[in-house]
Amino acid sequence: TEPITLYERIGGDPTIRRIVESFYPRVQKDPLLSPLFPEDIRPTMEKQRRFLTQFFGGPALYTELYGHPRMRARHLPFPITPERAEAWLHNMAAALDDAGITGPIREEMWSRLCFTAAHMVNRPNADE
Ligand code: HEM
Repeated sequence: TEPITLYERIGGDPTIRRIVESFYPRVQKDPLLSPLFPEDIRPTMEKQRRFLTQFFGGPALYTELYGHPRMRARHLPFPITPERAEAWLHNMAAALDDAGITGPIREEMWSRLCFTAAHMVNRPNADE
């Protein structure tokens, strides 16, 4: 039998959508992050919905349209400092709260998100 994925355990597509719908309005209000994102955030949200679906073990919706994720390479045009990674994670924690994700499932998601956020850092902080 197939192992139950993190994607299934959090409730699949509706939960991924809740996370994304909570996260991006927060990003747009965050002074460290908002300058990096386009004004029309909808296309970014749709890409992230597809990415997080596969990231947590669901269907490969991102790769289906965009090929190999290459997330670090795709983030290189943007100055991602340690403090911006921190801000990204702070907003993501709030989005996970909004989606009602708690307990060991959250711990598992959180460690994967922290690992990936750290991997995206490509510049030192502005004052360093
Ligand atoms: C795209 C910032 C971490 C997943 C982007 C974009 C920015 C950005 C500015 C481009 C938005 C656009 O033009 O559409 C950041 C910052 C991070 C971070 C500051 C801090 C560490 C992450 C992490 C993930 C992620 C941890 C996944 C878990 C994505 C995806 C896209 C994206 C899927 C769309 C890529 C594409 O264009 O196909 N991010 N990001 N990002 N980011 Fe991040």
